[in-house]
Amino acid sequence: MIGRLNHVGIATPDIDATLRMYQELYGATVSRAKFELPAQGVSVAFIDLANSQLELIEPLGEASPVWSFLKKFPAGGQHHLCFEVEDILAARDALKAKGATVLGTGEPRIGAHGVPVIFVHPKDSGGVLVELMATPEH
Ligand code: CO
Repeated sequence: MIGRLNHVGIATPDIDATLRMYQELYGATVSRAKFELPAQGVSVAFIDLANSQLELIEPLGEASPVWSFLKKFPAGGQHHLCFEVEDILAARDALKAKGATVLGTGEPRIGAHGVPVIFVHPKDSGGVLVELMATPEH
């Protein structure tokens, strides 16, 4: 079921400052500048890597789940891993059948890449929040 690592999600209190750091320190290429995803309560930006991406995530307000994450880790930190799956509904159903906890309603939402995503509770993944996304058209 599990496919390619699509991106590593990194929560930050300041996307612009973090982007600058990755650019200046690591020579990173920004593939998508900061934009808002109001439905998920976050702004995001993407850094391109040779084999994957980094997704920088900043909360839009106190209602955002990323706000609570930053309460625990004010300087920011690794927030989730995102793996591609061929069939998001089949993946969700298989996970639930095996007793995993799919967050929210369990219905896929449209993620930052414009394709459906679900999130799986960290307790089912060695303490790491997992995002599964439908494989995008390459
Ligand atoms: Co993500």
